[in-house]
Amino acid sequence: RRPADLVRTVDVSGLVDARGGLLDRAIFTDEQLYRQELRRVFAPSWLFLAHADQFHKPGDFFTTYMGEDPVIVVMDKGRRIRAYLNSCRHRGARVLRADVGATRNFTCTYHGWAYDLDGKLVSVPNREGYPDSFDTDDWGLVEVPNVDSYRGLIFGTWNPDPVGLRESLGDMAWYMDAMFDHDDEGTVVVGGVHKWVLDGNWKLAAEQFATDWYHVNMSHASALMVLSPTKNPKTEIVHRAGRQYVGTNGHGAGFPVHPKNRFNAKTVHEWTDYDALRERLGDARVEGPLTDGHATVFPNFSYLPVIGTIRVWHPKGPDRMEVWSWTVVDKSMPPEVREAQRLYNLRTFGPSGIFEQDDGENWSEVQAISHGFITNTVPLNYQMGLGSEREDGRHPGTTSELYSDAAGRAFYAHWRELMNTPAWHEERNQ
Ligand code: FES
Ligand code: FE
Repeated sequence: RRPADLVRTVDVSGLVDARGGLLDRAIFTDEQLYRQELRRVFAPSWLFLAHADQFHKPGDFFTTYMGEDPVIVVMDKGRRIRAYLNSCRHRGARVLRADVGATRNFTCTYHGWAYDLDGKLVSVPNREGYPDSFDTDDWGLVEVPNVDSYRGLIFGTWNPDPVGLRESLGDMAWYMDAMFDHDDEGTVVVGGVHKWVLDGNWKLAAEQFATDWYHVNMSHASALMVLSPTKNPKTEIVHRAGRQYVGTNGHGAGFPVHPKNRFNAKTVHEWTDYDALRERLGDARVEGPLTDGHATVFPNFSYLPVIGTIRVWHPKGPDRMEVWSWTVVDKSMPPEVREAQRLYNLRTFGPSGIFEQDDGENWSEVQAISHGFITNTVPLNYQMGLGSEREDGRHPGTTSELYSDAAGRAFYAHWRELMNTPAWHEERNQ
């Protein structure tokens, strides 16, 4: 049971006008709203944990966060992927401090309590000092009750009775398959995880990957000129046709539509069998979301198909996020093709990427001034493409124009709904 003052709640209806396309900046800066967000947005949602390729044998583990809660993701003896709160049941220290590795059990370095791969407390130093009522069965690690995967992407939720992962993705799965289902072999990760810290609220990044093709021409003008020196980005890119998927449950994706959409990295392009992809995924996907595009699975998992990056925007307070990014390639790619994709990813995105630098700069800039009192009385504009949402007959679900805020409005509409809905743990506490 939590004291009542720890679960103060704000009605956010007045802060998000999804229909009118107006947002109040407090949702990016307010500490109390942030606490509510961890409780009502992160705790009940399916959150990305890891890629299946990170686990090959029992004991392989990866430590990450769900919201700000540290978790261990591990393959148990039955080869099932499970996740536990990375906090000792004794005095709360982490039982695993490494980022990644393999282990037989989790031994806390504070007083030495040890847990097995099933999360069971199996060793307590000076056990005889505890009363008879002390039962190790009562003090196992707290387990994430639901873990599931889609196309090698492992998600977990603290919600004990969630809508299933596949169902919560809805039509988003069709768009995800354009990156994660090129053939029967699926995808693998290359190398480790890049991690970096940015000043900026996590939603700025998640929202942009859901909805914002608009910034590309201006923010990335110099990077586009480097990549295509003969093209003028203002004329070449700005007129490209495309669509934006306006998801249910806050998901969103945008992509140019062109019969000759292709992978940008030359080696990857030359290796790719586009006819086979058309056969498997259909023309609409190959000519749309297969290559150039952006996407966010609500709340904080994003990917870029042509770049081969998947990432999580971990919240670290209202003003800060930690970005974790992986390079993902088709398992069927030979080593030189994988390497070409990895290098292309490195050059464009990730901490050294020429595009990533521009994006991070924007988010930090927006955040830096957002605590001002007058600044906060001026709403933000999300009105592009207002009323353009429709079914286009080619892509599933509702779509809008490529240049549109529609998926952003849907992202915040879902956010608002979750923020105004008591989560399962609050109902229990009332
Ligand atoms: Fe883990 Fe004491 S905090 S054994
Ligand atoms: Fe960008």
